[in-house]
Parts: sequence; C-alpha cells; structure tokens
Amino acid sequence: MANILLGVTGSVAAVKTPLLYEMLRRLGHTIKIVATQASLYFFDPADLPRGSLVQDEDEWPGRSEGRRWQRDDEVLHIQLRRWADLLLIAPLDANTLAKLANGLADNCLTCVWRAWESGRPVLLAPAMNTLMWQHPATGRHLRQIATDMGTTPPAGLALDDLLNWINAHCPRLRIVAPEDRRLACGDVGVGAMAALDTIAAVVQSVVDSTVR
Ligand SMILES: Cc1cc2nc3c(=O)[nH]c(=O)nc-3n(C[C@H](O)[C@H](O)[C@H](O)COP(=O)(O)O)c2cc1C
Repeated sequence: MANILLGVTGSVAAVKTPLLYEMLRRLGHTIKIVATQASLYFFDPADLPRGSLVQDEDEWPGRSEGRRWQRDDEVLHIQLRRWADLLLIAPLDANTLAKLANGLADNCLTCVWRAWESGRPVLLAPAMNTLMWQHPATGRHLRQIATDMGTTPPAGLALDDLLNWINAHCPRLRIVAPEDRRLACGDVGVGAMAALDTIAAVVQSVVDSTVR
C-alpha cells in the first residue's frame, strides 16, 4: 500500500475529488491532497476527512497575522515530498501543466513537483476544454516533462501518439488520457478527465510495479 499525494487543480473535474479520495482509500492507500486555490472553487473541503487536505496557506502558518518563519518550522512541500510514494495530479489543468513543464513553483503543489525525487512515479490526468487540449502548448509541455524525467520523445508526434509513447517509454511517468465526450462547458470533444476507475486502475498498476 502506498502514500499517495493527490494534487488537484482548477478544472471542473475537481468536483470529483472526494470520490477519487474515497476510491483510492478503499484500495488501501493513504492519501493526502494538495489543492490549488482555483480547485477549491469546485469541491467542499468539508467533504474530505479532517487533516487530509493541504491548501496553500498551510505552507505559511500565521502569515496573515504577521507571524514569521521560526527555525525548525517544517517546510510543508518538502515534508509532503518525503512522505509520498507517488504523486497523482487529477485533474491536471492547462495552467498547472504549463507550470510543471516550465519549472514554476508558486504554490504548494508546484513546489512539491519541483522538489520531487526523480525515482518516484508521477501520474497526470489532464482535464481541459478540447481546444485547450489541442493547443500546441499541450504537446510541447508534455514532451518537456518527459524530457525532464529522463526520456525525450521523438519530435513531431501527434498528441495521441505522444501519450502512447510516454506511457510506453517513461517508467516513472504515466499520462491518463482525457476522454472524448460532452464537457462541462457544453463543447463535445477530447478533454474530459478520465473516469475515476480508470485513474484508480492506473494508480494501482503503478503502485504494484514501482512502489517499494
Ligand atoms: C468554471 C471554470 C472551469 C474551468 N475548467 C477548467 C478546466 O477544465 N481545465 C483547465 O485547464 N482550466 C479550467 N479553468 C481555468 C483554470 O481554473 C484557471 O486556469 C486557473 O488559473 C487554474 O489555476 P491552477 O492551475 O492553479 O489550479 C476553469 C475555470 C473556471 C472558472
């Protein structure tokens, strides 16, 4: 059984966070959630077990009251990195995808990513509007992430082929492909986050094959 860090970003698919938490918990895993500010628009933290959710302000305890960092205070994103066997980001929105690919570290989740130990697996479940998904930046960013994780995909692959290539060649990186259906915005096309049981099955297969 694994310690799973579940990153949640600002896609409508974040409404499923409590369900995904429960599904992974039933598989026997221990889960902590790191939520971006935008993702909190889509689910109620009260629907999660107390203590399971990390928000950005938890990185900076007391900051709004003028408290300053004290020696021996923990650095939360590093603590989370040490704790986690596996990082799952579901949903992964276009904005955070771009940050991951470019190394930006301006919230707890992207700091965990930037500090991630390269030997530990990462699963990404993108969710975005079809035209966002089909934008050239998506392939560029996924290719960059694979390269940063040690395996450079061939140039010029179509998005589907790129995902297949990454999943076949990057042992520590799995992309759970988005689905083709009616999206929350009303458009029909590729971009909906994969079904929760698909994501859970990929998590389990990665845990079975890579986690100590
Ligand atoms: C109602 C609503 C739905 C959104 N859905 C998505 C989405 O599915 N995918 C996406 O990439 N961005 C979506 N966005 C935009 C992101 O929330 C926005 O880019 C935000 O800055 C992401 O911040 P984060 O990456 O820090 O979570 C949506 C925004 C709103 C207001």
